[in-house]
Amino acid sequence: MATKLVSILGGTGFVGTHLVNRLRRAGIESRVLSRHPQRHRGLQAGGGVTLHKVDPKDEEQIHHALVGSDAVINLVGILNEGAHGADFRNVHVALPDRVVAAARRAGIRRLLHMSALNANESHGASAYLTSKGEAENRVHTLGKPAVKVTSFRPSVIFGPGDSFINRFDQLLRKLPGPFPLACPHSRFAPVYVSDVVEAFLRALDDKRTWDQHYDLCGPEVYTLEALVRRIAAAAGISKPIIALGDGASRLQARVLGKMPGKPFSYDNYLSLQTDSICNSNGLERLGIEATAIDSVLPYMLTPKASRRRYSELRRCIR
Ligand SMILES: NC(=O)c1ccc[n+]([C@@H]2O[C@H](COP(=O)([O-])OP(=O)(O)OC[C@H]3O[C@@H](n4cnc5c(N)ncnc54)[C@H](OP(=O)(O)O)[C@@H]3O)[C@@H](O)[C@H]2O)c1
Repeated sequence: MATKLVSILGGTGFVGTHLVNRLRRAGIESRVLSRHPQRHRGLQAGGGVTLHKVDPKDEEQIHHALVGSDAVINLVGILNEGAHGADFRNVHVALPDRVVAAARRAGIRRLLHMSALNANESHGASAYLTSKGEAENRVHTLGKPAVKVTSFRPSVIFGPGDSFINRFDQLLRKLPGPFPLACPHSRFAPVYVSDVVEAFLRALDDKRTWDQHYDLCGPEVYTLEALVRRIAAAAGISKPIIALGDGASRLQARVLGKMPGKPFSYDNYLSLQTDSICNSNGLERLGIEATAIDSVLPYMLTPKASRRRYSELRRCIR
């Protein structure tokens, strides 16, 4: 039977907001489980969305909120520990465990899980990536046999509301003088948020995706330095970008990791030691043509008139 109602954890975030809109256009209703539903009332504006206050530490509350859904999607993730006591193990491992247990009890047979490219339980030093890898392994194992699980492993995701392009845009604007860039040679294949949510939608009712893991990448590979230079050019910011060596990159991570909001942490530095690129792109396996960053970037960062053109472009893309 086709999915009609999906419960989403993390549905109020960057990817979640795009996903909820895509599901709405596909005629699928979203029930968004949030710690702070009052902050996200705007999500309900187009209809087809209900917000439910849930404490993610309480399996009973998750269970009650899930009852009656055809599927559950878990998008919850943090890039750094510390905000309101959040830590990687709790958010990336214990919460997905609870979601699987609650889904089983609620009789839900479908789970889409958001992981990250290079997530690996046993390899690598970044706690973000090892915890994501552990969670991914656990949800596939714990779900069996009742809950059919599919995982998605994107490279960095770009699009309206992202915290990648927009963050660099803000930093480039605010920091006086030359811009010191850590890990300039790290490589990425930035993937467009509309392509990511399309992957979720296509997988939802497709049995061939059960127990599969999809790496998701854009069509081009860039170094971080090349990306930041593109962002600066698209935003019309002209300033020298200083590519830092490894020692200075570590130092920057140590210093910025102590600042409020952790603009760049040592764990971020560690995760950037592995290139975020796909060997086999899951978008192709799902029949989705990956969108190039250059076809979107100019519309995200230029003045209002161009942003209007960007909404027209989005309508054309999807
Ligand atoms: N953005 C990227 O480039 C990228 C790349 C690869 C993988 N991913 C993964 O994709 C997922 C979505 O990313 P995103 O950029 O959309 O993230 P986001 O905008 O930060 O949203 C994440 C959502 O998770 C919930 N959340 C945050 N901290 C939490 C905590 N401590 N406990 C429980 N819930 C918490 C929040 O929902 P409420 O406040 O409503 O509860 C928030 O809306 C994450 O799992 C991320 O690791 C993202």
